[in-house]
Amino acid sequence: MLLALVVVSIALWSSGCAVDLSFPPGFLFGSATSAYQVEGAWNVSDKGESIWDRFTHSQSGNEDGSTGDVATDSYHQWERDMEVAANLSLDYYRFSLSWTRILPNGFANYISEDGKRYYNQLIDGLLAKGIQPVVTIYHWDLPQRLQDLGGWTNPYITDWFADYADVVFSLFGDRVKTWITINEPMLFCDGAYTNTFHLAPGVVDREGVYLCGKNAMVAHGKAYRVYQKKYKAQYNGKLSLSNQLVWYEASTEEDEVWLDIAQQYSYGRFSHPIYSKEGGWPPVIEDHMRNKSSSEGFHQSRLPEFTDEEKELVKGTFDFYAINHYTSRAVRKRRPGEPHGGFPLTGAPDLDLLFERRPDWTEGNEWLYIYPEGLRRMLGWLRDQYGDIPILITENGFSTAEDSLEDHDRVQYYRRYLEQVLLAIKEDGVNVIGYTAWSLIDNFEWMDGYKTKFGLCHVNFSDPLRTRTLRRSGRFYADVIKRRTLDLDSDYRNYEF
Ligand code: NOJ
Repeated sequence: MLLALVVVSIALWSSGCAVDLSFPPGFLFGSATSAYQVEGAWNVSDKGESIWDRFTHSQSGNEDGSTGDVATDSYHQWERDMEVAANLSLDYYRFSLSWTRILPNGFANYISEDGKRYYNQLIDGLLAKGIQPVVTIYHWDLPQRLQDLGGWTNPYITDWFADYADVVFSLFGDRVKTWITINEPMLFCDGAYTNTFHLAPGVVDREGVYLCGKNAMVAHGKAYRVYQKKYKAQYNGKLSLSNQLVWYEASTEEDEVWLDIAQQYSYGRFSHPIYSKEGGWPPVIEDHMRNKSSSEGFHQSRLPEFTDEEKELVKGTFDFYAINHYTSRAVRKRRPGEPHGGFPLTGAPDLDLLFERRPDWTEGNEWLYIYPEGLRRMLGWLRDQYGDIPILITENGFSTAEDSLEDHDRVQYYRRYLEQVLLAIKEDGVNVIGYTAWSLIDNFEWMDGYKTKFGLCHVNFSDPLRTRTLRRSGRFYADVIKRRTLDLDSDYRNYEF
């Protein structure tokens, strides 16, 4: 206990200030998963096919053939998840709805009874344990039928999504008070369409990136307006969209000039339309893309512009900012002849910039370089750009390649990133209202399948029951939550569910 306190205090001291290690009253702690990553039961009852079902079942899916067909089997084992959540004493559990479990053919004209039943029991089960549901409406598992009609590149998706959102608000809005409309458009637009990440639908087309990005912004705006008009007065819930934000710093002093455009391209593109006073794309990105498109012979910007009406529709459609953050990168200009890299981890081809690990950052696992101060700076950047809005950290966490229950590196990651959250709140005055650990349990990590583990809780994937066992990091997080401080005892036990 004393040792842990000394270590944390030294870390805070060395970062420039001694800070009280307790979290402010009312600060919320949660953990998260998403439907495709945990539910399994991909074809039970009348559930329709999603792009992830199609993608993982095809030759072009994951190299090792992994799928979410069973995943952690949370469709059947959801009560085990509840027990884990209750054992951690979570204030809330963030999970997502599977569009095709609720609307099997993608459209709102037919609602599945089984889909309703499944999510009603999940929500009621959480509430019975005193855990608030935080619900993501879209976490990447688009109905295949809508993909066949162009998916996120077809502007009509903005209405299909708003109709879907309308259905789920009407079904669950009486009990769900915090909604995330869409999770990480940057990943399913830029990441997928450029193949930086091998993600469904497996369509690679650099023009798809910006069509998808604009439609995601408008879809979010329309869903928010539906809630505002039809449900807000009665249910009084809060809504946002969650953005994946990689913190960028300049590689050297000379690279400082590239920083603003890198940040606006990455954060501003999915924030400025919603959180700025003017709405629409960040001007520096709009100008850059217009000029670049014209120099490439296009008659219109590859970044489709917002009409005035669309700007008004999307602007202001938030009740808080939702940030997912894991890692940081150093930015520099690409030298002639160097490969372009892939956005957002190794480069931004449309900006001619490259992103790298700064030598003093710990390597971590694969893409997840460890730089805890990056989270504090990221939170400060958001406040400086968009004002003093409440910020909910909707994801933060660390992956490992090993299965170990004694995940000291993950405990360390959580401890150090949480310290930075405290510093952002106490030293910088950023209004951070809560923190979500990704992930509650090991799950299907998209293109990495089951090779990469993010869980506070280990899942035995060879066991048909998918037994869950809390890791050391889970016990650490439970202690943080119970005591509302980082001043902790490090003697944690294992629990089986
Ligand atoms: C962000 C995504 O929202 C989530 O689905 C994913 O598993 C984590 N990052 C970790 O990569």
